[in-house]
Amino acid sequence: MTSRLMTSRLRKVVFPVAGLGTRFLPATKVVAKEMLPVLDRPLIQYAVDEAIDAGADTLVFVTNRYKHAIADYFDKAYELESKLEQAGKNELLAAVQDTVPRHVRCVFVTQPEALGLGHAVLCAKPVIGDEPFGVILPDDLIVNGPQGGGRAGALRQMAEAAIREDAGVIAVEEVPREATGKYGIVDAAPVSDRAARIRMVIEKPRPEDAPSNLAIVGRYVLPGRIFELLEKTTPGAGGEIQLTDAIEMLLAERPVLAWRFEGTRYDCGSKLGLVKATLAMALADPALADATREFIREWN
Ligand code: G1P
Repeated sequence: MTSRLMTSRLRKVVFPVAGLGTRFLPATKVVAKEMLPVLDRPLIQYAVDEAIDAGADTLVFVTNRYKHAIADYFDKAYELESKLEQAGKNELLAAVQDTVPRHVRCVFVTQPEALGLGHAVLCAKPVIGDEPFGVILPDDLIVNGPQGGGRAGALRQMAEAAIREDAGVIAVEEVPREATGKYGIVDAAPVSDRAARIRMVIEKPRPEDAPSNLAIVGRYVLPGRIFELLEKTTPGAGGEIQLTDAIEMLLAERPVLAWRFEGTRYDCGSKLGLVKATLAMALADPALADATREFIREWN
């Protein structure tokens, strides 16, 4: 029998951020796609805030040699901070200092070659060890209520379900049938309003081969055991080491739930998704809402 997946809070979260971001070239020639802003905050900040909301105190960024901006962003900016302090710009100073709270540590590991999401997650093994952990793909921005509204972020909902149900948990959302080829797709038996027990997962099936239209979005709570399974995973869809394939192996050992999270997901890996997220955030910001609504009306 396997031991319990998780007995207390989720402590570690992995952010695979070594992708090339080709959909946002030429900007991503020099700007990591995770640094693209929605209003004044980069995508990675929303992801990190969600991890901390879920209880994390160790953030593991799987990066590559072109992504120094992410480490710089979470580092202390002495010169900028002292200038803001001298100028008495306290709100801006707080914004610059509060990228991560003091009790949280950031760890950077590199993925030497782009061999797939499963491989990127495996690169975090030395930091995670045998513990359960979360994974957030920052491209998938999930907003719960107007800018969070005090409600549980998607990863916190999932971490709570993982403890309650003693299961791995993966976020899912229904997508149009014709879009199954862009996602991992699950076949799952409902156990409650939000949870369904996964029977199988398959990476990027053609619509005619997909077992459902329930797609994996970028949030996972997994046991440390997944690393050993990833080590055995051979290249799958697109010739890449797929996290989905290791999860399929995990299903033989312990329950994994598909979780229909509360919140709205924006696919910020696409231009349209980034536009939608920006508009949604502007409409939720009291300082911008009226002017944004007026602007949208002008276009109708
Ligand atoms: C990855 C996963 C896929 C998942 C998707 C969610 O694919 O491999 O299973 O559905 O993220 O965003 P990618 O978008 O990296 O091709």
